Amino acid sequence: MKRDRSIELYNEALKYLPAGVNSPVRAFRSVGGTPLFMKRGQGAHLFDEDGNDYIDYCMSWGPLILGHADREVIEAIRETALKGTSFGTPNRFEVELGEMVIEAFPSIEKVRFVNSGTEATMSAIRLARGFTGRDKIVKFDGCYHGHADYLLVAAGSGLATFGTPDSAGVTSGNAKDTLVVPYNDIEKLEKLLKPEGENIAAIILEPVPCNYGLILPQKDYLTALRKLCDDNGIVLIFDEVIN
Ligand SMILES: Cc1ncc(COP(=O)(O)O)c(C=O)c1O
Repeated sequence: MKRDRSIELYNEALKYLPAGVNSPVRAFRSVGGTPLFMKRGQGAHLFDEDGNDYIDYCMSWGPLILGHADREVIEAIRETALKGTSFGTPNRFEVELGEMVIEAFPSIEKVRFVNSGTEATMSAIRLARGFTGRDKIVKFDGCYHGHADYLLVAAGSGLATFGTPDSAGVTSGNAKDTLVVPYNDIEKLEKLLKPEGENIAAIILEPVPCNYGLILPQKDYLTALRKLCDDNGIVLIFDEVIN
């Protein structure tokens, strides 16, 4: 397979972008080799700078559910952009979009639009902390919720453990309020909540952890989690940024 142009672009990118990329997952460090540079997408296909054709199973990590360069989507973007791209004030489009989202998901009462998954999880956790007046949160080993400092935390060595920073630049102070437990193990969570329940603002998880190999929850696991949260006055946050 021809990759000359991708390699050339990667070497160019190294001059301007840290590790030549804008997200660690694109750096190919864990899989070896150098990243492929895409030139265009059409429907279910991506084409790289060397002309190779790929079936795209990723779809920009979810949002391109209608495929690349869908005609109707492009036309709607074009028509809207002609009226201006950002106002910095309230506008009717956000009201209409909010209404559409709520109609599509009956469990949603209100929405706040943000620019990234990281902002969404940060906002949800801040809300939970404000609401409960508690500081600590629980996350699950292997689940990823964006690059807020207190979410870049790995499990320590114990059973249900205080987090340790998972990245250079994250202080131990930032990690100390994040408790980490294994996913799909309700007993370990119960054990943690016995002493800690009343200090915990939120439990956050990917209900089906995409970042952990798309593992299904055990039967009744999510129901048990819901009950544990209700019993302990904890806010349960489902992070479905990648679903
Ligand atoms: C489950 C989950 N939550 C949050 C995020 C963070 O989203 P973003 O990269 O848009 O900040 C990701 C990103 O992959 C994710 O997979």
